[in-house]
Amino acid sequence: MAFILAVTGSAVGLGNIWKFPYLAGVNGGGAFVLVYLLCVFAIGMPVMMSEILIGRRGRRNPVATMALLGEEEGSTRHWRLVGGMGVLAGILILSYYSVIAGWTLAYTLKSASGAFSGASADQVGAAFAAFTGDWRLVALSHTGFMAITIFIVARGVERGLEQAVRFLVPALLVLLLALLGYAITSGHFVSGVAFLFTPDFDALTWDSGLAAMGQAFFTLSIGMGAVMAYGAYLPAETSITGTSAAVVLADTGIALLAGLVIFPLVFANALNPGEGPGLVFFTLPLAFGQMPGGDFFGTIFFVLLVFAAWTSAIGLMEPAVAWLVESFNRSRAQAAVMVGGLIWAVGFGTVLSFNLLDDLRFYKGTIFDNVDHLTSNVMLPLGGVFITVFAAWVMCRNSTAEELHGAGTMYRIWRFTARYVAPVAILFVFLKAVGLLPDLTAGG
Ligand code: PFF
Repeated sequence: MAFILAVTGSAVGLGNIWKFPYLAGVNGGGAFVLVYLLCVFAIGMPVMMSEILIGRRGRRNPVATMALLGEEEGSTRHWRLVGGMGVLAGILILSYYSVIAGWTLAYTLKSASGAFSGASADQVGAAFAAFTGDWRLVALSHTGFMAITIFIVARGVERGLEQAVRFLVPALLVLLLALLGYAITSGHFVSGVAFLFTPDFDALTWDSGLAAMGQAFFTLSIGMGAVMAYGAYLPAETSITGTSAAVVLADTGIALLAGLVIFPLVFANALNPGEGPGLVFFTLPLAFGQMPGGDFFGTIFFVLLVFAAWTSAIGLMEPAVAWLVESFNRSRAQAAVMVGGLIWAVGFGTVLSFNLLDDLRFYKGTIFDNVDHLTSNVMLPLGGVFITVFAAWVMCRNSTAEELHGAGTMYRIWRFTARYVAPVAILFVFLKAVGLLPDLTAGG
């Protein structure tokens, strides 16, 4: 149970409530959502199972685990580089995750002070622009979020947060359902549902396909060794398949629910679904500002979101911290401060992406856009390829069958998807998106 709570805590976070709706909006809705769901089940499930089984078999941090198993399974210790890429991905992701979590922290205070009550769409939009436009405020809230994260990881009170997840996820669910009720009465529920679930394949590009796949990895916390690091603590008798299925279903359900709340509100207030990273910070305050008791519910909602971000942030730091503790004999506190300090500093790239360096655009956009693209759409999927190839091709059948408890149908499905479906599909989407595969359809 503790393991399920930890992995669910890591999976459910800003990715579900902030990132999923904004990406679905930017990428045109239905077709994106469909590809995302396909990726979650056909790629996410086998990758998550592979990651947990590797973690449980190695029982070390991801770098040491990959090195050990690489050797044990008759391959090479160089597999540790996969663990190393995960450590780096965690650091890069948290560098921007913390900034967005900082926005959430600030919005908790704004909500509590009644700043949104009765506000119009223009006012909410102006408040967002004023806040993110002031780099000192953004830096302050990013610093606050990182400081508490470092404190939690240093003190090793993650256990407390695991207990919090027990309450957090159901509470988040209840509030989302209440918001869903509100969204249904907004009069634009049908347009929201239509936007989310009517696939328009003409609007789907390989780029948005890659974004959907990247989001599947991001939201499930897979491809970077976080789940592997947690797997190291999983008892031998627990079912990896059952655990993965529970986490995947809970995580996907919460993301879809968030989408069903956000888009009706977007259309009811004539906002732009393709607004970008600010989407949730436009729609939710507006909704809370209009509903009875909105200051109270808004505050609770943002508090829950901050907690959900903390349980994810811990997962993002875990590979790096566990690595420093086990391989460099650092105390947990030292490791937390070193890793957290680095993440805090790197985070300034994102802090400034929304204000002073807003105009600094290259490749995919701002610094934030590039860090996000590099991690979600490149590093995590690539990690997923290596992890499934390792588990299903390098590890011998006996090892994996032992971890997955036998050779039944579930085992065969896992092995088939991890051997063929996941790595091939990931590489295909990735190479298509970067234009390295020729277009064979007539007319190009
Ligand atoms: N899954 C988290 C979210 O959806 O917010 C983000 C995340 C957490 C990614 C932990 C990776 C990770 F290791």
